[in-house]
Amino acid sequence: MLEPGVILPKHIAIIMDGNGRWAKQRGLVRTEGHKRGAEVFRKICRYCSDVGVEYVTFYAFSTENWKRSAGEVGAIMNLLREFLEELQQRKAENEFEKTAIRFLGTRDGMAPDIVQLMALVEANAAPDPKIHINVAVNYGGRDEIVRAVRSLMEAGVAAQDVTEQALSDALYTAGQPDPDLIIRPSGEYRLSNFLIWQAAYAEFYFDDILWPDFTPDDLDRAINAYAHRNRRFGGV
Ligand code: IPE
Ligand code: IPE
Ligand code: MG
Repeated sequence: MLEPGVILPKHIAIIMDGNGRWAKQRGLVRTEGHKRGAEVFRKICRYCSDVGVEYVTFYAFSTENWKRSAGEVGAIMNLLREFLEELQQRKAENEFEKTAIRFLGTRDGMAPDIVQLMALVEANAAPDPKIHINVAVNYGGRDEIVRAVRSLMEAGVAAQDVTEQALSDALYTAGQPDPDLIIRPSGEYRLSNFLIWQAAYAEFYFDDILWPDFTPDDLDRAINAYAHRNRRFGGV
């Protein structure tokens, strides 16, 4: 339960990790873990919207995750395709109304039908969204920064105009606040190339629970813990 009067983080970012281990524990194939993880993703989106979180970012597939077997990568891409089609067919109309969805990551190397669906879903953003949902797919923080620098150079930006703001504005998260709270379940204590620029002053919350077992109660615990942190941003 959220503590009464708790101040919500404006932007929560979540590394959806532990799907494979969840499946293994149950004697299932890894892809079953991803399937369950995709359901939890929907549930947590809904919950964030209900409690009034304005921005939530989910790490779904990293630029490094292509190292996995073709079967596993294909299964993850199919789950993404299903989610996109569902949004497109407006089956999830109630679930995702008043929502703006953005995909963080490079479209290079992605299947053309997925790229097309992503563009359609992004274009369908509500004009006055209650919640912004970012899904990081084919995303790497270093890749993001390199592409941002390249885009500034291609635009002919002069060296003295390469500022923190200019770089932030060239990232996939342009125009959005930095994450206040980054949550990683599954007992791993690392960022794995997630939002490395944007995480500069984020609060971190680690949990041993595996993503497919993650519930709104677990999110509440993370938010409550966040609310007790003393953020100083270098001040006193
Ligand atoms: C997270 O779960 C999903 C992706 C990285 C795509 P994992 O598949 O990494 O699960 P574990 O870490 O192997 O348990
Ligand atoms: C991070 O998880 C990427 C996503 C959750 C999408 P990984 O499972 O790929 O990270 P490592 O390999 O354990 O660092
Ligand atoms: Mg993992």
